[in-house]
Amino acid sequence: MKFLGLGFAFLLLLSFLCSANAFNITKILAKYPEYSKFNHDLSQTKLADEINSRQTITVLALSNSEMALLSGLDLASLKRVLSLHVVLDFFDAKKLHEITNGTTLSTTLYQTTGNAPGNTGFINITDLKAGKVGFGPAAHGAKLDATYVKSVKQEGYNISVIEVSKPITTNVAEAPAPAPADVNITAVLIKGGCRIFATMISTTGVLKTFEDAVQGGLTVFCPTDAAFTGATNKLLKKLTSDDQVSVLEFHGLPIYSPLGTLKTTNGPIRTMASPAARKYVLTVSSSGDTVILNTGVSKATISGTLLDDQPLAIFTVNKLLEPKELFVAAPTPAPTPAPVEAPTPEAESPEATPNSSPPAPAGPAESPTTEGPASSETSSPSFAPASAGICRGLLAFLVACVGVLVFML
Ligand SMILES: *[C@@H]1O[C@H](CO)[C@@H](O)[C@H](O)[C@H]1NC(C)=O
Ligand SMILES: *[C@@H]1O[C@H](CO)[C@@H](O)[C@H](O)[C@H]1NC(C)=O
Ligand SMILES: *[C@@H]1O[C@H](CO)[C@@H](O)[C@H](O)[C@H]1NC(C)=O
Ligand SMILES: *[C@@H]1O[C@H](CO)[C@@H](O)[C@H](O)[C@H]1NC(C)=O
Ligand SMILES: *[C@@H]1O[C@H](CO)[C@@H](O)[C@H](O)[C@H]1NC(C)=O
Repeated sequence: MKFLGLGFAFLLLLSFLCSANAFNITKILAKYPEYSKFNHDLSQTKLADEINSRQTITVLALSNSEMALLSGLDLASLKRVLSLHVVLDFFDAKKLHEITNGTTLSTTLYQTTGNAPGNTGFINITDLKAGKVGFGPAAHGAKLDATYVKSVKQEGYNISVIEVSKPITTNVAEAPAPAPADVNITAVLIKGGCRIFATMISTTGVLKTFEDAVQGGLTVFCPTDAAFTGATNKLLKKLTSDDQVSVLEFHGLPIYSPLGTLKTTNGPIRTMASPAARKYVLTVSSSGDTVILNTGVSKATISGTLLDDQPLAIFTVNKLLEPKELFVAAPTPAPTPAPVEAPTPEAESPEATPNSSPPAPAGPAESPTTEGPASSETSSPSFAPASAGICRGLLAFLVACVGVLVFML
């Protein structure tokens, strides 16, 4: 019995450690009613999921009265503006006042959406006179009229929430979104290396189904052209045209689900092919930065983001999604020559863009912990989820141990 108690105590401790390994911005901000509008809008735009799926982040919070200045924006524009307030680096009061050479450009979440032209996805953080810190758009000569107000909350060196005096915004971020119906899905797919899928949804009428769904929220997973191997095409040809439609609709979700949301999703989700909650569902899981879609007979991974503008998100996947209602698991995982991924989706993946973006400041090695905008974004994220995985593994192991103990007693 003593063992048992010890085991449980250990389990409790470990599960505490494991859960302490993740933050929840909604929960953090819930303690501060003065940021309730900001908090509400982070959830509304799903930026909260995006924030929670990262390891190193600074959130520039706006008070309710400042948020009122943004009340005229449509949801997509609001999302763009708010994503400029999420910096992919850690800044607490101390670090803000110790910026090398007193000025830096920092990458924001807006940069990762793939629709921030030029340097509009960066913000300029500058130490001003009299100990003030100013924030503004990265554009040359832009005003830095949002200033540091106070530190709200820090957790480790992972998340820092500070208040700024004013919204940071640009004409680009605020521009009204093109009516979602105006986005040419076919053009986006072709540009992203999914020409075959684009043709298939167009000839089967599924494109129309997708277009009609955009307004209410839509997520599309398009297999790249490399995913249509001879074997896959053969399987598809065998299906009736109704079943082909179901397979294609299986590649859409009737909700807007950006990458951060998918990363924080665990479990089955309905697709556009789901007549009822239990059929044609996809199971989402993630490992590090990789999002895996399990169809029940096979798994595909998300390889890039082609578009993320609320209410529409389009991702590339490395394989056709095969619903278990229509496909059977391959008896032997035939050693198909690893499909050479078309270079486009990876290369165009927004996560990669900060690297190639011109405005990355010329080597502001500002402090040992920060390396320019690009590297802080690309290097850190894979860390924690791995340790979270180990943590979960250990936890499972201990649960098993306790189980055995209970059995023995
Ligand atoms: C974050 O906290 C909010 C409010 O406490 C809760 O509703 C939400 O489910 C939490 N999200 C996660 C991913 O734990
Ligand atoms: C930030 O903005 C200020 C004022 O416009 C400018 O002087 C400074 O060079 C900018 N910093 C960077 C890193 O571009
Ligand atoms: C959408 O783009 C495709 C490919 O570029 C083009 O053929 C088609 O005409 C466009 N549709 C509309 C409605 O503009
Ligand atoms: C800081 O300024 C010095 C002198 O102007 C320059 O040589 C150095 O590269 C700057 N450092 C950064 C990180 O911009
Ligand atoms: C915080 O960041 C460190 C290193 O970047 C990482 O190892 C750790 O897991 C992160 N913690 C959380 C809660 O993400």
